[in-house]
Amino acid sequence: MRTRLVKTGDPLAAKADLLVVPTSPANPLTGPAAALDTALGGAVARAIADEELGKEPGSAVLMHSTGGLEAPRALVVSTGADEPDAWRRAGVAAGRRASGLGAGRVVVAAAGASEQQAAEIAEGVWRGSYSDRRFKSEPASKRALETVVLNGAGTKAGLERATSIAEAVALARDLGNAPSNHLTPKLLAEQARDMAKEIPGLKASALGASRLERLGAGALRAVAQGSQEPPRLIVLRYEPEAPTRPHELLTFVGKAVTFDTGGISIKPSGGMEEMKMDMAGGAAALAATGLVARLGLPVRLLTVVPATENMPSGTAIKPGDVITALNGRTVEIINTDAEGRLILADALAYAVRQGATRMVDLATLTGAIVVAIGDVYAGLFGNDGGWTETVRAAGERSGDLVWPMPMHERYHHLVESKVADLANASNKRQAGPVYAAEFLKEFVDETPWCHLDVAGTAMGDGGATGFGVGLLLALAEGLAEPA
Ligand code: BES
Ligand code: MN
Ligand code: ZN
Repeated sequence: MRTRLVKTGDPLAAKADLLVVPTSPANPLTGPAAALDTALGGAVARAIADEELGKEPGSAVLMHSTGGLEAPRALVVSTGADEPDAWRRAGVAAGRRASGLGAGRVVVAAAGASEQQAAEIAEGVWRGSYSDRRFKSEPASKRALETVVLNGAGTKAGLERATSIAEAVALARDLGNAPSNHLTPKLLAEQARDMAKEIPGLKASALGASRLERLGAGALRAVAQGSQEPPRLIVLRYEPEAPTRPHELLTFVGKAVTFDTGGISIKPSGGMEEMKMDMAGGAAALAATGLVARLGLPVRLLTVVPATENMPSGTAIKPGDVITALNGRTVEIINTDAEGRLILADALAYAVRQGATRMVDLATLTGAIVVAIGDVYAGLFGNDGGWTETVRAAGERSGDLVWPMPMHERYHHLVESKVADLANASNKRQAGPVYAAEFLKEFVDETPWCHLDVAGTAMGDGGATGFGVGLLLALAEGLAEPA
């Protein structure tokens, strides 16, 4: 991804395959949009008058040059009213159109935009241009986006950050979209190791079967025991030279079930292929860790990603089995399809042992969160009001929206078992996402912790979204500031 900054120069004279012209519905014919309108003989004004250009961010009208501009086409794109991430969404729409048109070079006429808006639209253009052709044997018929030029606004640093975010989001999406036969727990661990090799201050390791046995990671091992593929507990550590808060250890934990069949409590076959994305939380945690390290944020970071398949077989765990998690708590398996909370239990307990001072986990954990709040917000749970609010606000800043869900002592009875300390599921059809959060809470001790149930936001019909990368970066940036 190549992004350049051009502070001055007439955007209408810029060489581009597509000129992107943002416009605000409140005041549509100002700045570059007004210049474009003049160059095209009033075409922009007509598109607005005829309501072809909507007011919502990302609504866009494509116009062909009649000679008044250097580029063959211009895309007028609405930046909406005052929504916090409207410019990013406008950029995403423009990036999608650019890919559809095979535009290799896009110039954004951003004069009048704030630094942040300029960075957001550039980030959006890259994010919108994402496509996954790794498993197509035919080369793409359209040229891929190669260069984004930001004309008339923005800073170099802002643009570098924007491009790095887009790259990290693309990595998370590539990992999420990778089929399970191309991304096993072992291969995911290798990806983490390769990433760490390239980035100063970042170290990766992966604990395999024998280390996990010695650790007593009985919950991760139990989920993995039905599969031919051995599990990995992927651990990344980023130690900057001069952390702003030397006593803080920010910790990301991400569920990485590289394929979730449900195990013996097997899922219905319709749509099961989507369960290759059941590692989207882990993918976001890994990609965000690389991003934080690449940007060199002065924040100490620990990332723990439990990776496994969940398979039915003669060696698989069975309902009624009792296992012992890393922190010594025993768990009765009621439903082998509630595997995410099991592997996160060990990962969270491990992170606490490693000295985590603030944790956030991301997991495609329950179908019920999708039923409850769909694909706009992820569910946010936590054991510490201040930290939960910090995470919510980071979501708002980044565009990765998260909505607070309840936790309460009076839900605790749900996770009780007759035979063990805890049960991993119940047949009461009550508060599924809350149940999962109450279960996880048993493994974090007193450490401030948040859980994001991203089942609705991280995977969709269009594949993996990269949800969470931006939120985690925003969190780290917050902790990079002095307390
Ligand atoms: N990975 C699934 C959750 C999921 C479902 C993610 C749909 C994305 C889309 C998770 O492991 C799961 O199977 N959860 C069960 C929990 C239940 C058995 C308590 C569920 O939601 O049905
Ligand atoms: Mn499951
Ligand atoms: Zn799962």
